[in-house]
Amino acid sequence: MIDKETRIKIAIQKSGRLTDHSLDLLQRCGLKYTRARDQLICFGENMPLDILLVRDDDIPALVRDDVCDLGFVGLNIVEETRLGSGEDNDSETEHFSVLRRMDYGHCRLSFGYPEDGPVQSASQLNGRRIATSYPNIVNDYLKRESVDAEVVEFSGAVEIAPSLGRADVICDLVSTGTTMAAHKIREGETLLESEAVILQTPVALPAGKQQWIDRLMQRIDGVMQVRESKYIMMHAPKSALARISELLPGSEAPTVLPLEGLDDIVAVHVVCRETVFWETLENLKGAGASSVLVVPVEKMLA
Ligand code: PRP
Ligand code: ZN
Repeated sequence: MIDKETRIKIAIQKSGRLTDHSLDLLQRCGLKYTRARDQLICFGENMPLDILLVRDDDIPALVRDDVCDLGFVGLNIVEETRLGSGEDNDSETEHFSVLRRMDYGHCRLSFGYPEDGPVQSASQLNGRRIATSYPNIVNDYLKRESVDAEVVEFSGAVEIAPSLGRADVICDLVSTGTTMAAHKIREGETLLESEAVILQTPVALPAGKQQWIDRLMQRIDGVMQVRESKYIMMHAPKSALARISELLPGSEAPTVLPLEGLDDIVAVHVVCRETVFWETLENLKGAGASSVLVVPVEKMLA
């Protein structure tokens, strides 16, 4: 089992809302991979790292049981698994640690009320049937709110449960809202806001492997950071430098360069880590800046 000692295994959703984003993120971190003929394993060529493409519902257990070192998965699935294993809120670290919350794969788990149905708010759930693929999260909610309702488990196509006469209400993931709307279901209260997270196995890893994971996380942070980051260049009167620094969002100390033949005007270069709005540029101009250029940042290592 030399392989297990040295190569990192990452579980990623086989096909779904997180697949493309997760693979894209790893590629932006520099990973080159070949996809095996069965398409379920991607072998890293330039890093000691392989990707397993699996059902998203299986990812937390694969990481918990140390079959995979890392897992990229929605918080909705992490919560459902955690509540299903009878753990309280504080002991998730024994199963897997959430290394990062990623800013993609946003969706929410919400109640859905058929437009012509008898239930139109969570206050009317007593004695009703709720169809969901997230029985643990829903039961946890019902318990906390002291509601007595029946949870009917569906592994998919939850939105058709009311028209089949199997439930009065649904509780399902909503992203754009298209699915509920197409079935004349109105989105109600939200139980959980979700996004992609990175899980790590609770088992201590060999030093070499952990070093690679740390390195990967640093690159992931870099990739996430540059999404909003911009490199800004401008000309500015020396006297306006203090005011201009104040106007730049999330920036470090600017680089100030002399301009040939000009004494009172300098070039200012700065990296901004937050969104640069038109308003910011207008304010810079108002403070005396000219020739303002904003360019995207491709890579960053903090
Ligand atoms: C969810 C949910 C809906 C759909 C909602 O399924 O069950 O079918 O997404 O998205 P919308 O609001 O943009 O229409 P998902 O694709 O996550 O599949 P899975 O739960 O079977 O993994
Ligand atoms: Zn799924």
